[in-house]
Amino acid sequence: MKVSVIGLGHVGLVTAGALARWGHEVTGYDVDASKLTTLLAGEMPFYEPGLGELVSEGHAAGRLRYTRDIGEALAGAEVAFVCVGTPPLPGGGPDLSYVEAVGRAVAEHATGDLVLVEKSTVPASTGSRLSLTMAREQQSNGNVHQIDVVSNPEFLKEGTAVDDTLHPDRIVYGTASDRARDALREIYRVVVEQDDCPVVETDVASAELIKHASNAFLATRISFMNAVAHVCERVGADVEEIARGVGLDARIGPAFLRAGIGYGGSCFPKDVDAFAHLARQVGYQFELLDAVREINEGQRQLVLDKLRGELWHLEGKVIAVLGAAFKPGTDDLREAPAMYIARELLAAGATVRIYDPVALDGVAAELPEVELYVDPLEACRDAHAAVVATEWAEIREISADDFMKALAYPIVVDGRNAFDPDEFIAAGIRYHSVGRRSVTLI
Ligand code: UDX
Repeated sequence: MKVSVIGLGHVGLVTAGALARWGHEVTGYDVDASKLTTLLAGEMPFYEPGLGELVSEGHAAGRLRYTRDIGEALAGAEVAFVCVGTPPLPGGGPDLSYVEAVGRAVAEHATGDLVLVEKSTVPASTGSRLSLTMAREQQSNGNVHQIDVVSNPEFLKEGTAVDDTLHPDRIVYGTASDRARDALREIYRVVVEQDDCPVVETDVASAELIKHASNAFLATRISFMNAVAHVCERVGADVEEIARGVGLDARIGPAFLRAGIGYGGSCFPKDVDAFAHLARQVGYQFELLDAVREINEGQRQLVLDKLRGELWHLEGKVIAVLGAAFKPGTDDLREAPAMYIARELLAAGATVRIYDPVALDGVAAELPEVELYVDPLEACRDAHAAVVATEWAEIREISADDFMKALAYPIVVDGRNAFDPDEFIAAGIRYHSVGRRSVTLI
């Protein structure tokens, strides 16, 4: 089918590459001219394993191209995917102005009947608002083509986005239109046939809510385990053992039970807030989600408390923060616990060194006062403590002995439970992790 993808961030670019792989003719557009320049030069605007290859394959097959003109992107399109950002507003709700702008552009530039697919994560009712906005716009501009709205949320994870999209656990789409439903069946025919992937066909509002409910539920699992970790530390239990024992219950499953310094990224923090905000708007206090957020924020603070417990005053101390990205496999710093911790350390007067294998450019742009390191042990050299903020393989490989030799004070606050507490404590390290055996603070 002839498809346009509006917005070429993580979701949009991966979607564009996958659609081209499945045989569709894809035209990508982004309002950010520099992103298009990067793509037109054959480079990737952000780090995502496997994406360069997928996109190059689309270019080589002649099924993936880009344009700087939204009218050109929509000309002849049968289906348009909206993949623009929905950043958080101060009140907790998402900023939907980019989504609205795409709706208005589609109502102006559609050259035939078209299916508009919301991939951006949006609150329930956005689909009906979009339909209304486009109908009004068409009344005033005289565009007569039929535009049907579908909600088709994306569940990809950064770092494994290509595989998640090419081999999804499920495909969800919701629409009131038979024509749109048929179009979506055709869009996903290849992956459904190849992978025998389950499909949830539903209404627009339910599809929108499935996305918010999925992310909020996963975030709840993480905060639940982080709360359990507090109890573990107090009774001498090991949260990793709890996660294993609990996760073996087939009704629960093992995923997303890892305790640590909490979730970050562009989705969980924003989506938990947006879901709670939506519930409040419609008259329900979703207090569980407020607690999920509070527990998450507390986990970051815990690292600073443990550092203060060991070092007393942070002013004048040198702290190596190992890992900056919100998780391994990405250079994304949005809502990254490491960046929060670095900011707090700087505010307390510490010297902050950061190691990350791919995210240092972003760190330099956001926190120019931080010292940047391309080698984790160099970052630790003569530092007063090390904090593990992202569980990159390069960090996990460091031995207790290496830490002992490099650090001025042998203090390791492991926010990702990346090391064996018994081994590290036996080696003489003042080792703290989350919900497991730690050394006792004074
Ligand atoms: C998430 C959803 O998983 C994905 O389906 C949705 O489309 C977008 O949001 P992403 O933000 O890329 O994906 O990362 P994810 O792998 O889900 O991790 C989110 C955060 O949770 C990370 O900061 C990670 O470190 C943290 N996490 C994850 C934990 O703290 N414990 C866990 O057990 C799992």
